[in-house]
Amino acid sequence: MTTLAILTAAGSGSRLGRDLPKALVGLAGFPLVLHAARRLAASGVVDMLVVTCPPGLAGAVREIVAGDPQVDLPVRVVDGGTTRQASVAAGLRLAGEGVDVVLVHDAARPLAPPALVRRVVAAVRRGHPAVVPGLPVVDTVKRVELAAVAVAEAADGPLVERVVETPDRGLLRVVQTPQGFDRAVLVRAHAAGASRAAAEHLAATDDAGLVEALGLPVHVVAGDEAAMKITTERDLLVAGLLVEEES
Ligand code: C5P
Repeated sequence: MTTLAILTAAGSGSRLGRDLPKALVGLAGFPLVLHAARRLAASGVVDMLVVTCPPGLAGAVREIVAGDPQVDLPVRVVDGGTTRQASVAAGLRLAGEGVDVVLVHDAARPLAPPALVRRVVAAVRRGHPAVVPGLPVVDTVKRVELAAVAVAEAADGPLVERVVETPDRGLLRVVQTPQGFDRAVLVRAHAAGASRAAAEHLAATDDAGLVEALGLPVHVVAGDEAAMKITTERDLLVAGLLVEEES
């Protein structure tokens, strides 16, 4: 039984407004990608790690991750693609036949705890081909579409959207990473997803969505607030508080 973790770190993170890729931004003295890699390694259920990095930064990322004593795993670094989906596909190409479980985790969720990683892997090993961590939704959520009348207004005014539905929030989950998969299922899902992305110019924002599109079941295990996604400076501040709380 071999588990490979693909750690996606190839995004630019432009919303953080720094002049370096988000995965290399520091949090409590260490780059986000290293926080994520250390927690994957600490789970004890990951056998090898593939990190996707922005083109040109493979050397730097390798030094950060593979050179860290807490990341006591074989580490490979590959150039990512122009979308997250393409980056995961690049990592997945390194998952040989000997790998049976693949985790896909975002460096943008640096504090996902080892216990969460173990929960996801355990559910895949119990026979679920695709598993995502999820949290209940606390806000009321609306589905919107652009109102025809508003499109004209939106040219120089604020974008106006029309509400089409208020889904029952009790049945909604905010999903996180790591997401866990039977390797063969994820390979099939990405192959189908690549054809769709080429035809529709629309890349998936998570891997479970590609499995859903195949009509295969995706299951949810309890997520963790600590697996929050870093998008803004404010998120970094909150993550800094979480690191303090951990120690
Ligand atoms: O941009 P966003 O924060 O949604 O990215 C989620 C994760 O996907 C991040 O860890 C980012 O580094 C990664 N990513 C990637 N390749 C891309 C775009 C994003 O590996 N082309």
